[in-house]
Formats: sequence, structure tokens, C-alpha cells
Amino acid sequence: MNRTPLEREVGEHYGREGLEERISSALRAAGADPFAPSVEDLHAVDQLHTRGVRATLELARLAGVAPGTRVLDVGGGLGGPARTLASEFGCRVVVLDVTEEFCRVGALLTARAGLGDLVSFRHGSALEIPFPDGSFDLAWTQHSSMNIPDKSRLYREIRRILRPGGRLAMHEILAGPSGPPRRFPLPWAKTPALSHLLPPDQTRDALSRAGLRELAWQDVTRKTEAWLESRQTTRPSGPPPEAFANLLQSIREGRAVVVQALLERPTS
Ligand SMILES: C[S@@+](CC[C@H](N)C(=O)[O-])C[C@H]1O[C@@H](n2cnc3c(N)ncnc32)[C@H](O)[C@@H]1O
Repeated sequence: MNRTPLEREVGEHYGREGLEERISSALRAAGADPFAPSVEDLHAVDQLHTRGVRATLELARLAGVAPGTRVLDVGGGLGGPARTLASEFGCRVVVLDVTEEFCRVGALLTARAGLGDLVSFRHGSALEIPFPDGSFDLAWTQHSSMNIPDKSRLYREIRRILRPGGRLAMHEILAGPSGPPRRFPLPWAKTPALSHLLPPDQTRDALSRAGLRELAWQDVTRKTEAWLESRQTTRPSGPPPEAFANLLQSIREGRAVVVQALLERPTS
């Protein structure tokens, strides 16, 4: 794929060398078999968003997923949420991600966890989704829009690949009432150049202008703040502890909020 300079930077931010080895040693240290991990063994390393697998399950219930639901996980990272949707609910999930290393290691972890028939990976951009119109029942974004400045294009692309009546489930960090974060690094960006948060009203506006109708909008900032306060561990696949401390501080300063929401592509 042809990546823009920003997408290349995003890939460099997330795709660190030696990822597979670091994940394998973390699994071994936790007493799991790195060559045959369970989906649960992988939770500590593959849920690259706040509140871990609990947030994924909560969003899945909000979205009302069922066996056979065709899901596109946009910016799906290492595929943690995708494997949860497949193993817990029987969904068929394609993970689309601009970070090549995440797609490579994510596919390896999926095969090792025995889910290769339900979850696949595609290296590509959320701004040029490489699938035909109407191919999915559900689009899923969990902490994947923070590096994307052009939200209008992102949501237009998501609407395009949804079938009429299809839904978007999102769990995202947005700018707070006092503006966007000022402390860096953050988990998704070492510098402000990589961080593109809109406040909730502008996000809702972009969604609505893209033709997505809101079914639910829930502020989960307080729950996220409590999770960040109690969080002790760091992930081998993730950013340094300082980045999480800065996110917590940004929330306290009113410079970040967290929402989960469900939207629909209307049938007419
Ligand atoms: C914080 S991670 C979240 C990963 C995953 N959603 C999860 O919750 O485990 C953000 C992901 O968004 C991806 N991403 C950022 N910009 C993207 C773009 N323009 N197109 C596709 N993926 C993108 C990154 O590569 C990264 O994997």
C-alpha cells in the first residue's frame, strides 16, 4: 500500500522492532505457552486501549454482535478486540491496520490461538478502506481515530463499507472541555504532530455529516480515570508508563474524555 507521511509515522510509532519476541517472553513469564496461547492469555498484551478486555466486551454488548456478524476492525492493532469478538461471540472479523508489524504479529498470534478461520488481517489505511461498498455488518474502532486528522473522510469511508442498516461501534478518546491534551508523550503520540483529537460535539457532527445516525453515546471518562489510577503494569506491545500518567493527567485537566458509542447507516 502507499502510505502518507503521517501514516508512515504512525506505523513507526506503534511498530517497534522485536515485538514478537517481547510478546513471547511476556507470555512465558505469565506461565502461558507462546506457541499455543489462549485468547485470554493474550489479553495482557493485545488489548491496546483503556480498560482492557472489559471495555471490548462492553462495546460488543452495546453493538449487539451475534455469530456470523461480519466485522471490520478499523485500526484493529494486534487483533485483541477481533479475537475477543470471534471467540466470545462467533463474529467473522477483518482487522485493518496501517502498522504492518501489528498485522504480521497479529496474524501470527491469531493462528497460534487457533482463530485463523474467523480473524484475518489486512494492511491498509482507514482513509482508503480496501473493501467494496456495503461489505460489513459492523465497523469497529477502539482507540484508533486519535492519529487521524481527517475524521470526515474516516467516517465517510466507514459508512461506505457498511451495508444499509449496518452499524459503527466506537470507543474513542476525544478532546476535553478545556481543549486537546498538552502533555506528551501520550500512548498514541510522542508529540502533538501525531495527536488529532476532536471534542465530542465536533465528532458527533462529523459522524452525522457522514450519514451515520446516533443510536447511543456514553461518556466513560470516569470509569477510564479509575482504571488509569489503579493500573500498575506496562504492556510489551505498548507505550511507556509516562504516557499513561500523561493521559490520566490530561483527563483530570479536562483535556481528554472517553466515549463509547453506537451509530447506524440508515436503510434509506
Ligand atoms: C492504540 S492502537 C489500538 C489498537 C486496537 N484498536 C486495540 O484496541 O487493541 C491504534 C491503532 O490504530 C492504527 N491506526 C492509526 N491510524 C490509522 C489509519 N490511518 N489507518 C489504519 N490504522 C490506523 C494504529 O496503527 C494502531 O494499530
